[in-house]
Amino acid sequence: MTWQLTVPFNGAEDKAEEISSLCWDNNSTGLFVSDNEIVAGFDSAGDAQSVQSEFGGTLEQYAGFSQPNAGDTEIMFKDRVLSLSLLTSQSFGHGQHPTTAGCLDVLSHLPTPHRFLDVGTGSGILALCMAKVGAEVVLVENDADSLKQAKTNFESNDVAEPESHEDIASVDSKFDLIVANMLLANQRQVASQVQNLLSEHGTLVISGILDSQLEELCELYSALSVQATENYDEWPVVTFSHSA
Ligand SMILES: C[S@@+](CC[C@H](N)C(=O)[O-])C[C@H]1O[C@@H](n2cnc3c(N)ncnc32)[C@H](O)[C@@H]1O
Repeated sequence: MTWQLTVPFNGAEDKAEEISSLCWDNNSTGLFVSDNEIVAGFDSAGDAQSVQSEFGGTLEQYAGFSQPNAGDTEIMFKDRVLSLSLLTSQSFGHGQHPTTAGCLDVLSHLPTPHRFLDVGTGSGILALCMAKVGAEVVLVENDADSLKQAKTNFESNDVAEPESHEDIASVDSKFDLIVANMLLANQRQVASQVQNLLSEHGTLVISGILDSQLEELCELYSALSVQATENYDEWPVVTFSHSA
């Protein structure tokens, strides 16, 4: 069961930052910030209520994820329009969230690798786009419902079922390109393994973290060097590699 807290605010950037920070500190599973409200997801009612007691807002209970179901969608990827049929009722990743859109943009501009690892695949959207342009993809997703939906999405888009893992510890080969769009709390769980899975000349793309968390992110991935940071609606997408 998922809880969704909608907090109205006056549109001021510092207020949005204040509310967002408290949501992340209380283990929010994801945030949508618009001009006058913040919608935050939580797995625990207690965490959501801690934010509500500070900033007010409306708390609602959802079964599964509260994201829209993307259905048929068109994604610009590597100068191609990919027409995808994408279910997202049980998973994150309809493509419009800035972290996903940012990853798609950054991945679009990198060479297509032979093998691609998608850590925290959600709906499978990033891996699906990579598979459509010829990469062999491997999925990691620790939420069983999300992983099931990602596999369904591969099937309904006529892409062979990819190798997939619920635990990154069971992935045992190197990759030229890895993406991990996940919250800082989840980056902490996977960072050391992700670094070990990156090939010598490989590239790692990270999103899902806030500007204020960049320093900790770099510490988590301290075996790698930052190559670029681009912001998508205030969500940084950071590219790392082994070389300085
Ligand atoms: C923000 S969603 C990203 C979904 C999709 N890749 C996208 O870019 O839209 C993060 C995903 O990471 C998954 N996740 C969180 N912690 C994880 C972990 N330790 N190992 C694998 N997956 C994890 C979540 O279940 C969720 O589906």
